[in-house]
Amino acid sequence: MIIEAARSLDPPPLYAAVEGALDGERASRRAEIALEGGKHRVLLSREAIEARVAEMAREITEDYRDQDLVMVGILKGAFVFMADLARRVELPLEIDFVAVSSYGKDTRSSGVVQIIKDLDLSITGRDVLLVEDIVDTGLTLRYLAEMLRSRDPASLEICALLNKKEARKVDIDIKYCGFDVPPFFVVGYGLDYAEKYRQLPYVGILEDLEGSD
Ligand code: IMP
Ligand code: MG
Repeated sequence: MIIEAARSLDPPPLYAAVEGALDGERASRRAEIALEGGKHRVLLSREAIEARVAEMAREITEDYRDQDLVMVGILKGAFVFMADLARRVELPLEIDFVAVSSYGKDTRSSGVVQIIKDLDLSITGRDVLLVEDIVDTGLTLRYLAEMLRSRDPASLEICALLNKKEARKVDIDIKYCGFDVPPFFVVGYGLDYAEKYRQLPYVGILEDLEGSD
C-alpha cells in the first residue's frame, strides 16, 4: 500500500525528461520577472554556487562529526543558502534563525544592528554555525557573534557564502567562505536590493548600482 502510494508520486518519465530541458528557460524567465528589466550581469552561476555549496557542506560534515551542531541562519538573506547547505550536511543537526535589521533601501551598512527575531533554541554548550549570505563591513556579524558568544556555546564559527573583503571595517574570522566577491552590490540567491531579487537562482550585479557601494 505504502509502496504503491510512493510510486504514484514518481513523475512520469516523459515529464522528467522535459523538466531538464525546460530548466534553463524557466530560470531565465524567472530572472526576467525578478529583475523587471533592470540591467544586470551574472557574477556566480547557479551551477558554480551549487558546486561550491556542496564542497562547503562536505567540509562541515567532516568537521562536525560527533558534535552538537546548531545551524543559525541570519534572516532574511541567508534563507536560500541555508536551505541548500543544510540539506547537504550529512549529520544530525538543528536549525534556527535570527533576524536583524537590514539596510532598508540603502546599499550601505549603517553599522547599527537591531535584533528583530532572536533564537528559539538554547545554544549553551552547543556547536553553533552562524550562516550568513554576505560579509560586507563585518559589523552585523561582529555584533551577532558577540551576542551569541555571551550565551556560552561550546563553539561558534561563521559560514558565509560571499565575502566582500575590500569593504571590511572590522576583523571577522570566516571559517567557511564560499566566494570572494568584488565590492559591488550583488543580488540573488537570497540577497536583495530593497527586498527585491531574492529569488534569482544565481548571484548577479545590478549594473546601474555599480560603484555606488
Ligand atoms: P555588514 O554588516 O556590512 O557586513 O553587512 C552584512 C549584511 O548587509 C548582509 O547580511 C546583507 O544582508 C547586507 N549586504 C551587504 N552587502 C550586500 C550586497 O552586496 N547585496 C545585498 N545585501 C548586502
Ligand atoms: Mg544578511
